[in-house]
Amino acid sequence: MPEQEPSKGQSANDAILTLSRWFSKRSRALPWRAQPTLYRVWVSEIMLQQTQVATVLPYFERFMERFPTVEALASAEEASVLEVWAGLGYYSRARNLHRGAKQIAKSGFPQNRQAWLEIPGVGPYTAGAICSIALGQPEPILDGNVERVLSRVLLLSRSQGDASFKAHLWRWSGILVRRANRLRVSPSAFNQAVMELGALVCTFKSPRCSQCPLSKNCLASSHGNIENYPGKKPAKEWIQISEVRHAWIFRAQDRSEKILLRKQALGEWREGLWDFPAEPPSQAIRKKGKPLGEVLTKHVVTRHKISRITRLWSVSNQRHIPKKQRGEFSWTDLQEPALPGSAAFQKTWRAILKFSSGNPQ
Ligand code: ADE
Repeated sequence: MPEQEPSKGQSANDAILTLSRWFSKRSRALPWRAQPTLYRVWVSEIMLQQTQVATVLPYFERFMERFPTVEALASAEEASVLEVWAGLGYYSRARNLHRGAKQIAKSGFPQNRQAWLEIPGVGPYTAGAICSIALGQPEPILDGNVERVLSRVLLLSRSQGDASFKAHLWRWSGILVRRANRLRVSPSAFNQAVMELGALVCTFKSPRCSQCPLSKNCLASSHGNIENYPGKKPAKEWIQISEVRHAWIFRAQDRSEKILLRKQALGEWREGLWDFPAEPPSQAIRKKGKPLGEVLTKHVVTRHKISRITRLWSVSNQRHIPKKQRGEFSWTDLQEPALPGSAAFQKTWRAILKFSSGNPQ
């Protein structure tokens, strides 16, 4: 594998300049690009972890409306941060943003990569993205998109081991962004151009090489085996999880339906989010429930494959929650639950809606 800066320095320079021209013509107008303040770039980068741009856009706009400054975020209740995040998944990101905002409101925004790495939820990629985009610092980045572009252009494959492959690409990402900076291509434009090329042109399947500004510089394209790069990821080791939940459903006289939800307690998985309870709040509700059926849902979070059985029960009144548990349990509308729930909750809830529309009580 090549380790030094390309000997054909001129062609590397041409590639950087061509890519930067392509980015200024073809890049998407994204809200965090229009006003790349530290706060907006930080929030956008956290939202973009494991999530596509199209999914993030409405969440980003709502988040900025609700928490326009880091101080507004720092002084918010965690529940209201989770509420704006509901549906975006990976809720530890929202909790980390909230904790980070408290840190920043006290000590100011970090001004370099090392200091950003001290903020919860900020890893090497996110620190590099924030410092290059919002501070204009020539810091490297490496995510799936960047990995694909660099691996193809430089003909570096994962086949010799994932860790050394990644280490090589981190080094290359640094070499290239520093070279771009010397050529007066801003680190922000250069890093985002590589991300954008990976997202729009140098895609995993069916890359659009005929539209690629780097096709002349790309070694994998000239070898004609672009789809073999970066190469297969090592197989994930899946953790199988089975869950049982209960949905107690109360139908009022006006035919509106309520479901009983429980807030996940401190230290529990999905802490602070609402979900169907694993246990009833009282023996009364357990005894009074009439079985309606059950729904099976499956979903995947990072390395976890979760399959969940939710048993549905109808109850004839709502007054079965002991007083001391009233903060923990709550009845909410089946049609429009107004409480922030995890991705597992959202899936279960949709399955229950489908079940109940096919099985009117
Ligand atoms: N993915 C991660 N960061 C991004 C950014 N700043 N713009 C577009 N896609 C991204």
